[in-house]
Amino acid sequence: MADAADSTESIYDSASPQWARNEKLLLSDFTARPFVLQKLEPLAGLRVLDLGCGEGFVARQIKTAGAATVLAIDLSAGMIEQARAEEERTPLGIEYRQANAAELNDLPAASFDRVAAVFLFNYVDSTIMTEVMRRVRRWLAPGGRFVFTVPHPSLPFIREEAPPFFFKAGDLGYFSGTDQTLEGLIWRRDGVSVPVRCVHKPFEVYFQALRAAGWQNMPDLMELAVRPEHIELDPDFFGPLRDQPLHLLFSVEG
Ligand SMILES: C[S@@+](CC[C@H](N)C(=O)[O-])C[C@H]1O[C@@H](n2cnc3c(N)ncnc32)[C@H](O)[C@@H]1O
Repeated sequence: MADAADSTESIYDSASPQWARNEKLLLSDFTARPFVLQKLEPLAGLRVLDLGCGEGFVARQIKTAGAATVLAIDLSAGMIEQARAEEERTPLGIEYRQANAAELNDLPAASFDRVAAVFLFNYVDSTIMTEVMRRVRRWLAPGGRFVFTVPHPSLPFIREEAPPFFFKAGDLGYFSGTDQTLEGLIWRRDGVSVPVRCVHKPFEVYFQALRAAGWQNMPDLMELAVRPEHIELDPDFFGPLRDQPLHLLFSVEG
């Protein structure tokens, strides 16, 4: 598990080899990312921005689903290096850039049809999240859609520290822990664990942030969890998470 003193960038620079994958491997490759893709579709011919793209697992799926362009951005040089190496092995035409999503200043207004942020907001506090949401609204063309996922805010407070996924809440409470950083681990199906982090935000904070950032429409919300098909595929791996809330998925129209 990472230490509070570690920067997000250093955590991901070190863990980038464990994230590199071309097939579903991490728990959330089963329980979250397929639903992100569903919510982003249709993608044919669209311009897509992937914020906090990591080593490009989702960006590659977006491009393969027919997006005209994909600009994929991540803070970690190690993750971008992995993404570019894969782009060199199998060119898809994705543009990768190392940058902080909260400090991107050169993207033109209305230049994307879809923006994705898959487990990005759990690395920033609610003020920065609101600022990124404000920028996303500006970058989206009319009729565009913003899809993002975060860990379910209840999970750290109801789940023991055990595989295949947990965050350590310690003495923090659900409300008093707002904007506090919780360290955690998520497992791959091959038994390898990777460090993850959650700057905790109660449920209502996501709605408050969207509203403060100028989003007018009601988000489409899913509380993602292990499904019967996951348990059927691998009961030992997915079984311990049966009936527990794992992630939130928001899809909101601009
Ligand atoms: C849990 S990983 C998810 C990666 C990818 N979205 C995926 O689904 O495979 C979170 C990623 O967010 C990146 N990240 C964290 N804070 C960021 C920021 N402020 N700007 C850009 N990327 C950031 C990290 O470097 C890391 O690669």
